[in-house]
Amino acid sequence: MTYSLSSPILCHSPRITIIGAGRVGSTLAQRIAEKNLADVVLLDIVEGMPQGLALDLMEARGIELYNRLIIGTNNYADTSGSNVVVITAGIPRKPGMSRDDLLLTNAKIVVDAAKNAIAHSPDAVLIVVTNPLDVMTYLAWQATDLPRGRIMGMAAVLDSARFQTFIAMELGISPADINAMVLGTHGDLMVPLPRYSTVNGIPITELLDASTIERLVQRTRNGGSEIVELMKTGGAFFAPASATCKMVESIILNESRLLPVAAYLQGEYGLEDVFVGVPCRLGCGGIESILELRLSDEETNALHACAEAVRKSIDKAQEILLLPGS
Ligand code: NAI
Ligand code: 2OP
Repeated sequence: MTYSLSSPILCHSPRITIIGAGRVGSTLAQRIAEKNLADVVLLDIVEGMPQGLALDLMEARGIELYNRLIIGTNNYADTSGSNVVVITAGIPRKPGMSRDDLLLTNAKIVVDAAKNAIAHSPDAVLIVVTNPLDVMTYLAWQATDLPRGRIMGMAAVLDSARFQTFIAMELGISPADINAMVLGTHGDLMVPLPRYSTVNGIPITELLDASTIERLVQRTRNGGSEIVELMKTGGAFFAPASATCKMVESIILNESRLLPVAAYLQGEYGLEDVFVGVPCRLGCGGIESILELRLSDEETNALHACAEAVRKSIDKAQEILLLPGS
């Protein structure tokens, strides 16, 4: 027997839109669905592709036992009312290509995607993944005028996960017992912080000698390129999707996790008007607070060098896009 209610209760699942249904975007959709976090809208410029991926993910629901809806689309109207929007649209790096080479193409794509997405989901928290990350996040912020708590870039969670992995491999200890901290830009200038990286509370400086730590720091800085060189076509996507999912999860479940994300700085760490990776508390409103760590002069200088490099790329991008501020 079935019962029907005369006035159906309207239930709204949280909704996450992913713009760019390529390797990072589609893997992120899978991660979100398998964790049952929210309904997912996958949007891409290629007709049929996000629809096909969404159907494929829907067909796995009965086997993997998740029950969220996955919708594929080429139309921003279908993204309306999203709680979180993630932008992964763009072109990835190819061997020999720097992240800055991506600047021109991806700037136009990201600005357009951010404007369209926020027009349909004005209350959403926006996470940018497209490279060059810190510059794209700035351009998306400028294009949408979002309050700074509602926009951030994903990179330092990934870079920290890479540092964590290399420390774990070196020590032969589970990565679950390792907390690694990387701040700064997503690129060669990133700032891994061995002093704040620990194995169950023990600083790695107590467990590894300086030259070993330096080798792991360099491998972390080169983490994205190492994978691009191996794969030859495109870059990493499993760990980037996991890192993004961790941020999405803290927002959707209001977990208040402390994660390093690219945040708009207004005086924190002595920096202004730039997005740089710093530790932030992420909850349902987005970035709830920024933690200012006590840094040594060397670490502060390294963070400021990151900000300077990002600022130069922002100026270059603004000039090309003829945005205000150029
Ligand atoms: P991909 O090429 O597999 O996917 C990109 C997708 O964007 C494609 O499906 C493409 O059709 C779509 N797209 C292009 N223009 C679009 C538009 N105007 N509107 C909607 N969709 C559009 O690339 P992948 O590997 O997924 O990487 C995506 C981006 O993420 C790249 O810029 C890559 O460098 C970056 N990335 C950033 C990381 C980070 O730590 N911040 C880590 C890994 C990747
Ligand atoms: C990475 O770090 C390419 O930014 C991308 O894997």
